[in-house]
Amino acid sequence: MSACACGNTAPKYPELQEILSRHEGEKGSLIPILQEVQAAYGYIPEDVIKEISLALDIPATTIYGVATFYAQFHLKPRGRHVVRVCQGTACHVRGGARILAEVEKELGIKPGETTEDLRFSLEPVACLGCCGLAPVMMVDEDTHGRMTPDKVASVLARYE
Ligand code: FES
Repeated sequence: MSACACGNTAPKYPELQEILSRHEGEKGSLIPILQEVQAAYGYIPEDVIKEISLALDIPATTIYGVATFYAQFHLKPRGRHVVRVCQGTACHVRGGARILAEVEKELGIKPGETTEDLRFSLEPVACLGCCGLAPVMMVDEDTHGRMTPDKVASVLARYE
């Protein structure tokens, strides 16, 4: 709970209460609840895990275990844009490592990390399935093929 200027308290995660009441009394609701929490907040905050634990009477460690088992769940805030730089074989032989190094330099983060301003998350990826365009990077759903290190800054600049 957090207090506002008028002295009233507002729940920190109002959507969570809706999500929990939608699944009240339902068996096997943990994964759907985690999916809906992530859709609402972009990730699964630690405080939310504690609240789900109380509501479902499931130990928080069990919920962490489930959340870390499935790659779809994120326990840290993610950037507004997700950058994926292909490191598959076709991209690798065409300089994918140099593209990744340039992205890391531009953003100041490594794969698996998010910029402090929450603008970008950088995710490792093996093959983006468009090897004919190697080397390839994706930003969100946009594919950028035949990349060169000097194109990286201008591609990233398109995403606020
Ligand atoms: S190896 Fe990069 S898209 Fe397939």
